[in-house]
Amino acid sequence: MKPQNPFLVSGYYSPEFFCNRKKETGRIINALENGRNVTLFSIRRLGKTGLIDHVFYNLKSSKNTHLFYIDILPTTNLSSLINSFASTVLGTMESKPEKFIKRVSEIFSGIRPVISFDPLTGAPAFQVKIESDEDAGQSLQKIFAYLRKSRKRIIIAIDEFQQIVNYPEKNVEAILRANIQKATGVNFIFSGSRKHILLSIFSQYGKPFYQSTEMMQLERISLEDYGRFIISKFRKGKKNISSSSAEYISQLCRLHTYYVQFLCNRLYSLKDNVITNKLIDITLESILKENEPVYISYRNLLTEYQWRVLTAVAHEGNVKLITSKEFIIKYRLGTPSSVHTAVKSLLNKEMIYKEQGEYFIYDVFFEHWLKKYMNR
Ligand SMILES: Nc1ncnc2c1ncn2[C@@H]1O[C@H](COP(=O)(O)OP(=O)(O)O)[C@@H](O)[C@H]1O
Ligand SMILES: [Mg+2]
Repeated sequence: MKPQNPFLVSGYYSPEFFCNRKKETGRIINALENGRNVTLFSIRRLGKTGLIDHVFYNLKSSKNTHLFYIDILPTTNLSSLINSFASTVLGTMESKPEKFIKRVSEIFSGIRPVISFDPLTGAPAFQVKIESDEDAGQSLQKIFAYLRKSRKRIIIAIDEFQQIVNYPEKNVEAILRANIQKATGVNFIFSGSRKHILLSIFSQYGKPFYQSTEMMQLERISLEDYGRFIISKFRKGKKNISSSSAEYISQLCRLHTYYVQFLCNRLYSLKDNVITNKLIDITLESILKENEPVYISYRNLLTEYQWRVLTAVAHEGNVKLITSKEFIIKYRLGTPSSVHTAVKSLLNKEMIYKEQGEYFIYDVFFEHWLKKYMNR
């Protein structure tokens, strides 16, 4: 069903509800069509998954291409990655349960797949236990061989790819790379939000994936493009917003896609037909109030000192010289080395991120709350 509210806060529907990303879409499709793999990265909630959906939407009509999407965030080891990959592939290709079971048995004959049925829907599922590097390599080869039989071009998007560094197995990158390399006619989009990890996988000399993909950092949608999108969606719903108010929303949200969408979604759902800066402020305030319990729970995840550093970053908005004398004195933070340690930990917990040498609070609504309700 077509969305009632044009500002989606989860998932993808169609190009109508998707702002711009024309260049990025073209670039990814060009890479894939010419046999190049792509690594897409950016901070969280900027629109990577949405962009993959959009690319797939655009490729869907080409009959000679199979598209697969796997989110590997929930996987914890190589075995679960292969299970998730195999389930996606076979689940998409074999819609008839009998055939599905037959294929699973064939493909994983050597490693005894356990087949089960969903108690509610009766849909079949399976689990394989990968016990060695050989098992892993063999399973991957068999899945790719199976895909090759379809004689179609295959595109596989693996989202949250940085997850592989958390697997306990030692040779994950080497195993994946070796098998992916052998898979002819298959192209990949790797996507993820931990820039450092992805760069170390794909851009570090001597590592298995070194220079095997085209690196693509997703940037923010421009102020002009987002402004146009916001105005046109409100207008279509018979709501009025000036270009300066549309800009105000984008700026409040630092053009961070999810937050822009969220704030617009809320504004759109009001009965008001004119969206003013005042209404934007009031709506943002109610979002902050609603989220307050979450923000307070963040506090329990941090030490008192980390919380103070976080508050200081929120008050500054963006911090370039985080261990500078000026910043430390202004917020009474003690020594550069203790700030340094706290910052490292805040980066790790994804409370803050670093962009072009500056530090920002990850969640822009949280940033507004800290600034408003926490003293310097
Ligand atoms: N170009 C876009 N136009 C409108 N909404 C978008 C766009 N890209 C992403 N979104 C929305 O923004 C939110 C975050 O995007 P998502 O793709 O999940 O980010 P990421 O994968 O980078 O964490 C989602 O709710 C999605 O619907
Ligand atoms: Mg995502």
